[in-house]
Amino acid sequence: MTSNNKKHIKASITAVGGYLPEDSISNKDLEAMVDTNDEWIRARTGIKKRRVLKEKGKGTSYLAVNAANNLIARKKIDPTTIDLVIVATITPDFHCASTAPSVASAINAINAYAYDISAACSGFLFGMSSASSFIESGRYKKILLIGADMMSSIVDYTDRSTSILFGDGAGAVLVEPSTNGYGWEDEYLRSDGIGAEWLKVKSGGSLFPVSSETLNNKWHFITQDGKTVFKYAVSEMANATEQIMIRNKLKSDDIKYLLPHQANKRIIDATAEKINLDKKKVLMNIEQYGNTTAATIPLLMYDYEDNFKEGDKLIIAAFGAGLTWGAAYLTWAYN
Ligand code: UT7
Repeated sequence: MTSNNKKHIKASITAVGGYLPEDSISNKDLEAMVDTNDEWIRARTGIKKRRVLKEKGKGTSYLAVNAANNLIARKKIDPTTIDLVIVATITPDFHCASTAPSVASAINAINAYAYDISAACSGFLFGMSSASSFIESGRYKKILLIGADMMSSIVDYTDRSTSILFGDGAGAVLVEPSTNGYGWEDEYLRSDGIGAEWLKVKSGGSLFPVSSETLNNKWHFITQDGKTVFKYAVSEMANATEQIMIRNKLKSDDIKYLLPHQANKRIIDATAEKINLDKKKVLMNIEQYGNTTAATIPLLMYDYEDNFKEGDKLIIAAFGAGLTWGAAYLTWAYN
């Protein structure tokens, strides 16, 4: 039998989990920290509050482990059967060692290997590309993908262009071979380094190792040219979503839900408008969590899981630092 005759394996999401820290920072709280106000933040971003992990000695792995354990408990899986753990994050516990091995050990995934991927707000989407490819190739059968970010660790709470947006959280999905023909259908992924300047943490990497100069300049915090990122996000997230629909001959009526990255409600609205999608089909939790970077899309899956039925056609779309962006089409695999 040639490889062409092999039965095609489709990858599907078979379980979800999530975790959000209990503490939060409201718009009112921010008013005391920076020159901003609740009305402006709600009108310009759609955010009311963001959850933050305040306890000392806890980092992104804590969020990721809690999301993973939540999934394991809900799906009742044996963690020793997991083949691979991928953590998408830009706020790893350490730059070296990576976060995923700690997470895998903490959840007793003792037979898995584990690594991090870094694609900022597109981290979950890019991670799904890797996880689904491993399943489709037949190489692995059980992959845990976690999008986790502790953005409060890189946010400057005196900078009103970032502190109003970001929050902490983690979402997890289990990716396995489909048993009913539903799953990961198609993806359209892009990146362009031209925008690296517009959204970044400048120091702590090899180009600008931490020094008194980098600390004095506050280069260890995330900075952005909000207006420019906003313009690119609006046009490219909408364009990617449109491309994936055209390629798969999907009309707006065919789509059950759009799960967009939660960066700014106005970016989400513009994407939905471009594909002429009924507002009721656009899933959001930005009001309560802000932008949790790699966690936004799996957290949407976690929050809205009860709304999804087997066979529902879903579109996910993301845009973030890098620049990185894209969209994917999946059919939901379980009730
Ligand atoms: O997921 C990662 C990707 N990141 C993003 O997608 C973020 C994209 N960018 C944004 O979401 C928006 O650009 C921001 C929310 C960061 C800023 O919103 P904006 O609508 O682009 O505001 P702006 O910078 O154009 O400023 C408009 C006005 C200005 O006042 P004047 O000049 O019109 O009087 C600003 O000084 O709003 C003022 N302003 C604020 N006022 C209160 C800017 N930031 C604030 C603030 N609070 N936080």
